[in-house]
Amino acid sequence: MDLKEIENIVKKKIEAARDAAGLEAVRIEFLGRKGTMTGLFSELAEMKGEERKKAGQELNTLKQYIMTALQQHVKELEGVALGKLAEQEKLDVTLPGTRPPLGHLHITTQAIEEITRIFAQLGFYRMRYPEVDWDYYAFEALNMPKGHPARDEWETYFVGRGTTRNVSLEHIAEQRGNYIEHPKFGKMVLTPHTSNGQVREMERRKPPIRMINLAKCYRRQSDVSHVPMFHQFEGLLIDRNVAVTHLKGTLEYFARVFFGPERRIRLRPFHFRFTEPSFEVDVSCGVCHGTGYVHNPSQPPLTLRGGEKCRLCKSGWLELAGAGMVHPNVLKAGGLDPKVWSGFAFGFGVERSYMMKQGLRIDDIRVLYNNDLNFLEQF
Ligand code: DAH
Repeated sequence: MDLKEIENIVKKKIEAARDAAGLEAVRIEFLGRKGTMTGLFSELAEMKGEERKKAGQELNTLKQYIMTALQQHVKELEGVALGKLAEQEKLDVTLPGTRPPLGHLHITTQAIEEITRIFAQLGFYRMRYPEVDWDYYAFEALNMPKGHPARDEWETYFVGRGTTRNVSLEHIAEQRGNYIEHPKFGKMVLTPHTSNGQVREMERRKPPIRMINLAKCYRRQSDVSHVPMFHQFEGLLIDRNVAVTHLKGTLEYFARVFFGPERRIRLRPFHFRFTEPSFEVDVSCGVCHGTGYVHNPSQPPLTLRGGEKCRLCKSGWLELAGAGMVHPNVLKAGGLDPKVWSGFAFGFGVERSYMMKQGLRIDDIRVLYNNDLNFLEQF
């Protein structure tokens, strides 16, 4: 075969090769032990003199050509592969990133922050007192001696000396009654209200006191309007000559800032062991503006007040909190002389206040803590 012809065939085959394996096949076909070139070289043996020398040179030139062409094409293929890789892995750092979904604070946390801010404007500082505390601070120091029936209202969890390992039902039954108890302060409880902060604060510092204790509370309750874990905030102010008017002014200020400037509050006589006198605090309803009636624009007014009974409050007022003037026995428990010092205190439910602020009529308060994003994202 004409060597020129072989060169052309090799050239075409090399160009047609798409990858390293294709090139290797060409190499074997022409330069391998049984390849075309090897066959031609062996023919040299039958030649002589000038003819052999010439043919040898021509064969060597062709062999050299094939080797160079193969090498060169390997490089070209590598270049193409790298180019492809660069294309695939190209990173445009100027492209906008994928944004992770942005959450927000839980509505209870939002309410806590707002309440803290409002009272800070009146000079109340925020304290945090134990959410697991002794009976003494939760009840006894608050003028509720052991066995007093008033305690029943607080549906309290007592802390037992249990174990978390291998807990069986029989084991739990056995543990019942095995409460943690302090010789002086009594049983350990999950605080059923934030009032435990009152005497603790009196012990911590001398008056004047203006504190907010905002914390989790626990009661053995769970239904559409109760959760076993909820939040309260407790206000305590102690100074000389504190009067009910100070209490009312403070509560009114809070109600106007938190609920809206048109809202009013009212104090209703009530009974708590740790205050005297005691009140329940109501706020005027935001839906019917304290009238108890909602005007239905599609109907002519029936009464002078007009409209239908407000379905949120029924009476114009919403029950909001407990409050009162700190009982002398509580002051004494805090080491203060009731002849010198006087004060007021109040306790609100955070979740309840928040729902009243929004006019929310959530038909099951437990949704607040079910971690259902469809619900929580709305606020
Ligand atoms: N601790 C009471 C409760 O959980 C609320 C309360 C009533 C707090 C009167 C007070 C108060 O500070 O003076 O129901």
